[in-house]
Amino acid sequence: MQIPQGVKNRGLIEFVHEMAQVCQPDHIQWCSDSREEYEKLCQKLVDKGTFTALDPEKWPGCFACNSDPSDVARVEDRTYICSRRKEDAGPTNNWEDPHKMKAKLKELFRNSMRGRTMYVIPYCMGPLGSPLSKIGVQVTDSEYVVVNMHIMTRMGDAVLDMLGDRGEFVKCLHSVGAPLEPGQEDVTWPCNPTTKYIVHYPEDRAIASYGSGYGGNALLGKKCLALRIASVMAKEEGWLAEHMLILGVEDPKGRKTYVAAAFPSACGKTNFAMMIPPGEMKGWKVTTVGDDIAWIRPGKGGRLYAINPEYGYFGVAPGTNAKTNPNAMATISKNTIFTNVGVTPDGDVWWEGLTREPPPGVVNWQGQVHDPASGKPVAHPNARFTAPASQCPSIDPNWEDPEGVPIHAFIFGGRRSTVVPLLYQSFNWSYGVYLGATLGSEMTAAAFGEIGKVRRDPFAMLPFCGYHMGDYFNHWLQFGRNLRNPTRIFGVNWFRKDEQGNFLWPGFGQNMRILKWIVQRVRGEVSAIESPIGWMPKYEDIDWEGLDFPRDQYDVLMDVDREAWKKEILTHEELFSKMFDKIPKEFFFMRELMLSALWRSPEHWQLEPE
Ligand code: GTP
Ligand code: SPV
Ligand code: MN
Repeated sequence: MQIPQGVKNRGLIEFVHEMAQVCQPDHIQWCSDSREEYEKLCQKLVDKGTFTALDPEKWPGCFACNSDPSDVARVEDRTYICSRRKEDAGPTNNWEDPHKMKAKLKELFRNSMRGRTMYVIPYCMGPLGSPLSKIGVQVTDSEYVVVNMHIMTRMGDAVLDMLGDRGEFVKCLHSVGAPLEPGQEDVTWPCNPTTKYIVHYPEDRAIASYGSGYGGNALLGKKCLALRIASVMAKEEGWLAEHMLILGVEDPKGRKTYVAAAFPSACGKTNFAMMIPPGEMKGWKVTTVGDDIAWIRPGKGGRLYAINPEYGYFGVAPGTNAKTNPNAMATISKNTIFTNVGVTPDGDVWWEGLTREPPPGVVNWQGQVHDPASGKPVAHPNARFTAPASQCPSIDPNWEDPEGVPIHAFIFGGRRSTVVPLLYQSFNWSYGVYLGATLGSEMTAAAFGEIGKVRRDPFAMLPFCGYHMGDYFNHWLQFGRNLRNPTRIFGVNWFRKDEQGNFLWPGFGQNMRILKWIVQRVRGEVSAIESPIGWMPKYEDIDWEGLDFPRDQYDVLMDVDREAWKKEILTHEELFSKMFDKIPKEFFFMRELMLSALWRSPEHWQLEPE
């Protein structure tokens, strides 16, 4: 094996050598961050028929590709946390004894890269040189993964420099699990249609992913490192690794407030992070730091600071258009990879919600000419774009600040067509942790399960917490106890529906009205009503400039139905009983307090003293 000059880290050389011994690739290629390497690999993918180059006038530097139908989203039932002790993985993660798992995987990875090239990707999650960043090295036999990692992470020589000769890194092994016999022709989306494993060894700081080439299964810096492994590091080191967007709000006086928000997969993080406030809200501006992951630490002045560990966006395409998310449309206008969208014969792309009607002749994500009568969608519901964060028009000037940005509020929100009001604020940190812990969402295509059913997704981290969820709740509580001025915590729900099934709230840019109240609360500029589940805004305190939103409609959207909430709170029990041994005792008291407050009739809900 030829080692490039810049590689001085003994551990790294050993790791790559060992992986090559097991996987037996035909070639090994060490990756750099050069544009030339990126373009060459894109060309290779075009030559193989994986990529289609889009119209260079309309979509400069953009490609589209379709995955195998067996490989379209994360595979939660094939995702494992192999901690040494089963109880450390907890009841919400799949677990297997790490020795057994390693033995099993060794057989799967044996010769798995035959006929392919093993690419070595040294990458950094977080700004280069930031004390908050973490280094990973992924070996992979997928060119698709390499070009996506070019966009999603900082990688190459600068990372090798950071690593030095002794630095530590997370070992990431990835194979699509589709070796080629001599002379065997490759398919456009190699993967293993039957066997997939996404495995984490938290104590070893190692990841092994087999059989999938898609998204979070294969781009190991994202969910595997930056959430599952990082959450374990964070607990040990006293910080937080969260499934949260980070955005900045600038008010008309030029004052800046940063917030971090956790919504489950496909519940609006990218949209919220890039929101453009309605024109009537003059002087209000939103800037984007991150759209999916936040690493948060206590810093200067006893405040929390957050970085976005990522360098690009791997965002949901369907539903994205010039009205719902113009910043995303601008971000993806060049140098973007589209996966599982529709493509027209003249090199344009299309997905549900881009425009009203699909263009004639559009080829769907399964490579067939779209037939409206078939009922099949053009794009897969979990179709994604991969685009450089720097191309986002609303990118925050401090998005790469190595110290991070100060966080003034946390927001939690799921997709709930009933019960949960548009906006409320937790009474204090502990209530906020309870709110996050009991977050629920109706299932979408990005997750595993029955579409439409409410699933508890604590902190939007259910598929991403690398250790026992009960320990995670306790970590959050303890984290708050150590904060001089605990960050305020809010709940939102953009997805409440009327009896006809229509959204009651216009959402998207209009969410700025909600964000404004949150910012004002954080600054102590506005009072609230004390409801049993938290502080709630008065109708008069929401900025309605330019939006005709009658009070009675607002009342429906904000309704806290006492009977429905009693039932809701009882269903929290399902989650708690699952992890009874580790549920913080506070949670039981808070549940009881909420139930008792629900006995109070709404006429008696009090206005907070001004
Ligand atoms: P992941 O990348 O999977 O973590 O998802 P995400 O949370 O970033 O989701 P994203 O912002 O891509 O939103 C996914 C879906 O939610 C799209 O279909 C959007 O159209 C829809 N959505 C986002 N914001 C709103 C909103 O305010 N109201 C409504 N009704 N839908 C929204
Ligand atoms: C999610 O599912 O929350 C995502 C997409 O952000 S993936 O990277 O595939 O996990
Ligand atoms: Mn996500």
